[in-house]
Amino acid sequence: MNNKFLSNHSSGFQYIGGKLFCEEVSIEELSKEYGSPLLVYSAKGIINRVRNLQSNQFQVNYAVKSNSNIHLLKLLNDLGLGMDVVSAGEIFRCSVAGVSNDRLAFSGVGKTKRELFEAVSSEIFMFNVESAAEFWLLNSIAKKAPNKPLVSLRVNPNINPKTHPYISTGLRQNKFGFSEEELKSFLKDLEKSSEKISVKLCGLSCHIGSQILDLAPFKQSWNYLIALSKKMPFKVEYLNLGGGIGIAYQSEKHLSLELFRREVEKFFAKTDFKINIEPGRALIGPCGILVSELLYIKKRKNKLFYIIDAGMNDLIRPALYQAIHPLFPEKMSTKTPIKADIVGPICESSDIFISNAKLPELKAGDLICFGNTGAYTMSMSSQYNSRPRIAEVLVEGNSHKLIKSRETYADLIRHELF
Ligand code: LLP
Repeated sequence: MNNKFLSNHSSGFQYIGGKLFCEEVSIEELSKEYGSPLLVYSAKGIINRVRNLQSNQFQVNYAVKSNSNIHLLKLLNDLGLGMDVVSAGEIFRCSVAGVSNDRLAFSGVGKTKRELFEAVSSEIFMFNVESAAEFWLLNSIAKKAPNKPLVSLRVNPNINPKTHPYISTGLRQNKFGFSEEELKSFLKDLEKSSEKISVKLCGLSCHIGSQILDLAPFKQSWNYLIALSKKMPFKVEYLNLGGGIGIAYQSEKHLSLELFRREVEKFFAKTDFKINIEPGRALIGPCGILVSELLYIKKRKNKLFYIIDAGMNDLIRPALYQAIHPLFPEKMSTKTPIKADIVGPICESSDIFISNAKLPELKAGDLICFGNTGAYTMSMSSQYNSRPRIAEVLVEGNSHKLIKSRETYADLIRHELF
């Protein structure tokens, strides 16, 4: 069992009288009212984390992909964040949440013509362009735009962020951004081109990966951007430093938001760049837990399985990235810990959350919770095994509200034609 999660973060979760609470509401009460499995978020936790990172020296754009619930987008928008979007679907969500278009930065390696057209028409704040072909397509679409769209070139600095290979994005072998050679050849073509340039090239961006716990690769990328900005044939007004600030899933030393903020402030203090960052996980990850009920216990020689009602369709990170989320029972216990494999109900052996988890002996019907599930849980969930997606609840003080209802069986077949 890992209760470091609770003691380490001002994330909104704590034991009171031996029972787990989100702010002032007990998890037991929430699970009785909304059922299980359930995602519970702390509004105060989110607000705290945003405030710890915000600065008057740079702009924070929240990476919508980490959790795109409209209610949460509204909360983050009200706190003054811009939004980093990667699809027209995310732009749509932001517009439903009331985010003004001029606060949207559009990233992504495979933006379609339709998405570019829609984003140009919506007059979003900035395009993070990832290739020469995308630039020229955007330029041709922008010819009819009333104002020149702002463009930042996303570069690939070939820096190792020392994170899981699936979420490392700034190495030469990763598909993202302009490599040094691609950038050189693009700038040559740009200089020679007789095309009318209908966009305003004014920035450089870079996002080297996600769940980065060390400042060194970030600083390497900031140095890279500054050095590159001096070689550009256009004035680099904006630098977008990307997201990627890691959180402590287990006992690893995490990067505090205050430290990150101070380091960015210090690093760019003597420059006149307009700085943007685009974190997702670090703002919302620690402020959500996944509540699940223990369904069955299977005892084998030297093996104990706890089969719970949440599956890899609800939380895919352990199966996909071998991530280990902190685990704690809803009720504290003084019983001697035992070891069990915590597994879901899905028909795949990869549907395992933790093997040999140390936790107090539980009985069927007890609730257990996974911490740090505010980010990349619901947004990566699926209906695999025809399981309706679970509900989401936001707690603030002693009040709670449903911000996404549990899907129904009818939702499972809504788009099928028969
Ligand atoms: N900016 C860009 C261009 C990105 O691609 C990403 C994440 C972010 C910002 C936000 O990164 P963050 O601050 O949340 O680390 N599903 C994976 C994470 C994939 C991240 C993809 N890009 C996971 O569950 O660990």
